[in-house]
Amino acid sequence: MNLAALPLPIKLSVTFFIVLTACGLVVSEILVHSDLHPERGCPLPNLTMIKAKYSYSPLYRAVLTTMRKHLENKLELKAIIDWCQSGGDRTEFYEKIAPILNQRCLHCHGKNICRGDVSLRNWGDLAPLVINRGLPVAKLIRQTHYHIFGFGILILGLTLIFNLTRYSNRAKIWLTVIAYTAALVNILGWWAAKLSHTVAVVILISGLTLMLTITIIVVLSFLDLWVLKQVTSAE
Ligand code: HEC
Repeated sequence: MNLAALPLPIKLSVTFFIVLTACGLVVSEILVHSDLHPERGCPLPNLTMIKAKYSYSPLYRAVLTTMRKHLENKLELKAIIDWCQSGGDRTEFYEKIAPILNQRCLHCHGKNICRGDVSLRNWGDLAPLVINRGLPVAKLIRQTHYHIFGFGILILGLTLIFNLTRYSNRAKIWLTVIAYTAALVNILGWWAAKLSHTVAVVILISGLTLMLTITIIVVLSFLDLWVLKQVTSAE
């Protein structure tokens, strides 16, 4: 079967699907970026962002990302990060960390107001936020659940379309295998990153590979549908 030779309504439907997919890619990139962007202005997901989301403790992640704006300067940020990385010592907490939290955070995470159900009043409240690493299991299960189905259906749709194009079988096999493998490795990486920071590299590479593969499939399919058509009809 040949994609470009299919009736116009089917070609239109396929075109809408791949154009929507391309828009979806852009939106998901914006989402990842607005969700977590420790270094302002950095347009692509980077290692620090990924480690913050999948490997660091909730406190480390919060001060590096969403709660960073509440800190006055980099020294305060460094003090909290160093304290998290050294394991969250109790004495050091009351000496160095509590004064910062009192000033910057407790009006939202104190006794009366407890935003996000997070209390930062004393070491006991804070300990789980420093000891646990990565995303909470409940969040990971939810994220894994909808990504397994989402990736599965998206990749199936795109690779089926690509398999109806006139490109070589080798290109079809490679792009199909790479897309599914990258998606699977990406999801497994979210879990493995709880155990080691270095897995963030795997998440970054598999995520970028998946995006690139989808982009290639979308562009090549679009070319085959509408641009390369005249070449074959002239033959
Ligand atoms: C203006 C109010 C406000 C201030 C000030 C504030 N927070 Fe928050 N914080 C929130 C809200 C609302 C949430 C829940 C929603 C969210 O995660 O953005 C939250 C969530 C959190 C979480 C949980 C994040 C997670 O991943 O579950 C942590 C940890 C946290 N804040 C730490 C801090 C620290 C440390 C400071 C001080 C540097 C601070 N917050 C200052 C409002 C505030």
